[in-house]
Amino acid sequence: MSENASLMDKWISLAKRRGFVFPGSEIYGGLANSYEYGPLGVELKKNIQDEWWNNFIRQRSDMVGLDSSIILHPKVWEASGHVASFADAMIDCKNCKSRTRADHLIEDYFEKKGEKTNVEGKSVEELDKIIQENKIPCPVCGKRDWTPVRKFNLLFETKIGIVPEDQSKVYLRGETAQGIFVSFKNIIDSTRVTLPFGVGQLGKTFRNEITKGNFIFRTLEFEQGEIEYFFDPSVEDWNKLFESWKDSLWKFVTGNLNVREENLRWREHSDEERSFYSKRTEDLEYKFPFGFKELWGLAYRTDYDLKQHMKYSGVDLSYSDPVSGKKFIPHVIEPAVGINRLLAMVMLDSYAEEGDRVVLKLKPRLAPYKAAIFPLLANKPELVELARKIYLDLKKEFPVAWDARGNIGKRYYSQDEIGTPYCMTVDFDSLDKDDVTVRNRDTMKQERVPIKELKNYLRNAIQENSSQ
Ligand code: GAP
Repeated sequence: MSENASLMDKWISLAKRRGFVFPGSEIYGGLANSYEYGPLGVELKKNIQDEWWNNFIRQRSDMVGLDSSIILHPKVWEASGHVASFADAMIDCKNCKSRTRADHLIEDYFEKKGEKTNVEGKSVEELDKIIQENKIPCPVCGKRDWTPVRKFNLLFETKIGIVPEDQSKVYLRGETAQGIFVSFKNIIDSTRVTLPFGVGQLGKTFRNEITKGNFIFRTLEFEQGEIEYFFDPSVEDWNKLFESWKDSLWKFVTGNLNVREENLRWREHSDEERSFYSKRTEDLEYKFPFGFKELWGLAYRTDYDLKQHMKYSGVDLSYSDPVSGKKFIPHVIEPAVGINRLLAMVMLDSYAEEGDRVVLKLKPRLAPYKAAIFPLLANKPELVELARKIYLDLKKEFPVAWDARGNIGKRYYSQDEIGTPYCMTVDFDSLDKDDVTVRNRDTMKQERVPIKELKNYLRNAIQENSSQ
């Protein structure tokens, strides 16, 4: 087994075993490309979302937040172009009936031969030609009996209304971004924002995807963190703004999320790959076990979206400069990320094997539990009582774990594997001296800390790690 394949297996196994990520609807045999976030996964995901929200919305004076609907007026998706062209090119095997994304079929075929290929932006005719010319077989049954390549829309359709005759078709949002454009007028009318400013939103997005099965990398529903940064192109140099966003995203990933720089790179979209309305698009990519893949997209979308919504809604979405009175449609730069991909990256990048222990070297701010509290011996009521008191007191302010099973060594290893930065043990000395042993996850060093100092100890540890 290659190193990467084995890391992937170990990650998936740890994620399930320790309650980070479970297969979707497992008791019914599973549902392809869907997952559940377990007790620890939901904490880690929330910590990543909070980090995103604090860093990009609360700590900046040029940003505001939004929480728009998952179900928007269906015209939104006509205006945005999703109804007409948000589609993947698919191909079906006539023999075994399996359906595959045509680009994945071609890329995987060449990858197996040790050749690199990129078919981003190719038309269905061009994809058909490559499959025919190279006599690419079906990866499931081995036959070469393909339908032509066809486009399938990724939007999930549903209906509103309970009376069948009165039902109307709507879509689950295929990106959070459109909600921002739709609320643009209300935001400028109700707040004091002036250009340049951004609107950020976190929330669920839905896409009817066929995937390569890379665990949570590409799923049917996922959380997006999207920002539309509005500006006046006659005042701001868009290239400079674009570069400053590149810098902010890089700092967030390497600083706030503590990811190693050598596992990250920027990749610029070619003219073929880039959406027609975008002047420049770059992806921040992470080195997943299955290769460098998109983590965060950064696109200069010009004034395309606001203009489209003006056209389809008939409502004026222009901005009036409060000083000059100039009226115009702002342009936007859009950083768009999947929170689930951030979680995947954070788990993979912090995974370490040291001797016989597995450690998730998560920043304390991201760790699901900030500390675990143990009584040295579970059968000594005086130790259990004091440890329990400390645990309940810390729990008022921090997510902390309790463990009284097995021996101390096993408890340490169990907490290391889920990334708990500190383990606090109440022993016989604690009863006289009012202190505990605090063991550090990364250095494995131990120190005595007074019980009354434990809250400050954790506050400092979390704070210290926020400033990197
Ligand atoms: N508004 C632009 C937009 O939605 P995108 O590249 O389609 O752009 C943005 O999506 C980010 O959302 C991606 O960089 C990726 O992190 C995440 N993402 C996209 N599709 C996903 C899926 N099916 N599962 C998980 N994350 C996904």
